[in-house]
Amino acid sequence: MRHPRPFLWLLLLLWLPPGLPAAQERGAIASAHPLATEAGHAILAQGGNAFDAAVTVAAVLAVVEPYSSGMGGGGFWLLHRARDGFEVMLDGRERAPLAAHRDLYLDSKGEVVPGLSVNGPLAAGIPGQPAALAHLAARYGRLPLARTLAPAIRLAREGFPVDGHYRRMAEWRLEQLRQWPASKQQFLIDDAVPPLDAVVRQPQLAETLRRMAEQGHDGFYRGPVAERLVAGVRAAGGIWQLPDLAEYRVVEREPVRGEYRGMKITSAAPPSSGGIVLISMLNQLARFDLDKYPSVQRKHLVVEVMRRAYRDRAEYLGDPDFVDMPVARLIDPDYAAGLTRDIQLDAATPSRYQPAGTGLEGQDTTHYSIIDAEGNRVSATLSVNYPFGSCFVVPGTGILLNDEMDDFSARPGAPNVYGLVGGEANAIEPGKRMLSSMTPTFVETDQGVAVLGTPGGSRIISMLLHGILALAEGGGPEAWVSRPRYHHQYLPDVIQFEPGALDTDEQRQLMELGHKLKPLDSGYGNMQALFWNRQDGHLSGASDPRGIGKAVVE
Ligand code: DON
Repeated sequence: MRHPRPFLWLLLLLWLPPGLPAAQERGAIASAHPLATEAGHAILAQGGNAFDAAVTVAAVLAVVEPYSSGMGGGGFWLLHRARDGFEVMLDGRERAPLAAHRDLYLDSKGEVVPGLSVNGPLAAGIPGQPAALAHLAARYGRLPLARTLAPAIRLAREGFPVDGHYRRMAEWRLEQLRQWPASKQQFLIDDAVPPLDAVVRQPQLAETLRRMAEQGHDGFYRGPVAERLVAGVRAAGGIWQLPDLAEYRVVEREPVRGEYRGMKITSAAPPSSGGIVLISMLNQLARFDLDKYPSVQRKHLVVEVMRRAYRDRAEYLGDPDFVDMPVARLIDPDYAAGLTRDIQLDAATPSRYQPAGTGLEGQDTTHYSIIDAEGNRVSATLSVNYPFGSCFVVPGTGILLNDEMDDFSARPGAPNVYGLVGGEANAIEPGKRMLSSMTPTFVETDQGVAVLGTPGGSRIISMLLHGILALAEGGGPEAWVSRPRYHHQYLPDVIQFEPGALDTDEQRQLMELGHKLKPLDSGYGNMQALFWNRQDGHLSGASDPRGIGKAVVE
C-alpha cells in the first residue's frame, strides 16, 4: 500500500509526536530468510505493529533457519515505541541451569574437555526466546499469539524447502546431528543432509508452538512441554530441572547509549558486551580525524581501537545480575581518551598473551530489523550459538537446544569456539546469563533512523562498527551490509579479514606496522539493515549479500 487514503494518513499523523513524519510505507522488514520477512509483512498487513511482526519473524526463523536461532535458544530485542519514545532491551538470554557450576566443563586435571560445552544437552542453557516472545506480545503487541505464531506453526507442520545454506550448515554439524535420534528425524533424511528443495517438516515443533499460542509463557515453561524438556535432557546426560524452566524470566534492561559524530547510538546492554564494546570503539575513533589519514592508517587505527575495546570485554563484562561492572566508565569518552593514549600511528600494540586460537568460524545466529508505519522499531539478534546449537532435539518437543553455555568462560584464559577469552566476570554460576556479543542497534542521524545488526559470534561487534562507519560516510543500508570486513578481538592477536577487505599493499603495510594477518576463505556475517528517512518519510532496507535473506519495504 504505497499511498494510504488521506484520512488514514491524518489518523497516523495524529498518533505521532509532532515533528516525526510517519513512514510513507506500511513498514520495512529485513531478515535472514525470505519466508520470515514475508510472514512479518503479512502480520503488518493484518493490523499488527512492529512488535507483533517481531514475534512472527522470530518464530518463522525458528522453523526455517533452525541452525541459527529457535525456541530452544535466546536473544536480545531492542525496542523503540513511537507513541512515547520509550526504549528498552528485552533480555531473553539463556541462563545456566541451577545445577551448573564453574568447573562444569573441566576434567579432573582442570583442563577444558573438548566439545562438552558445544555438543549435546550439557551444552544447553535454559532457553529465553519463548519467554521473550510471550512478553513482547503481551506487553507491546496488538495481536494474540494465536495470530502471530500461526505462520510458524503452519511452516513447521507443512514444511519448508531446504536451501543451500541449510545444507551447508547441516553438513558442518552432520556428525553431531546423527548422534541423537530426534535430531536425525527432524533435520536429516536417511541419515544424510537432505537434498535441495526436500521438504523439512517439524510436526512436534508445530505442536509445541501451538501450546505456546494457546498458553503463552506457561505453554513452554510449565506443564507437559517443560516436563518433556527436563526428562529428555536428563535422559541424555544433561542437568536441567523443572525449577530451571519455571523460574526463567525475561528482564527489561536499559539500553546502552553513546554518540559518534553527532549520531545517537542505542545498543545492547549487558549481558551483551555489544553496546559497550561498540560505543568504546566509536568513542576512541572520535579522537582521530579519520578522514585525514590514508586508508591503511585508518584501518590500523580501527584495528587498534577494536583491540582495546575487546580487551575490556574480556576483563570486565558478564551478567549484570551477578557482576558489578564499570559500565558508565567503559562508555565514557574520557575513558576512551585514556585508552587511545598508547596508540601509535606507526606500530601495532601487541596484545599481552596468545592463547591457542580455534580457527572455527560460525555462520549461524540471526538478526532482523523492523520499522512499522507508526515508527515503532525492533532490532533483534537471536541465537542457538553454534550452527544447529547443541544438535540435540529433545524427544517429543521438536525443540532443538542451544549450546550457549560455551559463551561462558569455561576456565580463565581458555578460548571458546570464537577464540574469546574471559575471566571471573564471565565464569559459570547457577542461574547466570552468559556474556554475549549480540549487538542489535539503532542509530539516529540528522536525516533519520537506522536499525541494524548481524550474527557472527565475536565478530558481530566489529561488523556493527564497520556498518556505522559506512553510515557516517553517508552510505545507505546497501553500503552498510556489503562493506568488506576485517576484525581484531585482542586475542588471538591477529587481523582476520574477508577476501577483498585489505588489498595487497595494505596487507604489506599493516604487516610492516607489526600486525599479524589471517586472510579468511570467505565472507562472514549476515547483516539486516533498515533506514527510515525522517525528512521524506521514506523507508529503505538491505539484506547482507553474503546470506539468503530479504529486505522488503511495502
Ligand atoms: O551470544 C553470542 O555472542 C553468540 N552466541 C553469538 C553466536 C553467533 O553469532 C554465531 N554466528 N556466527
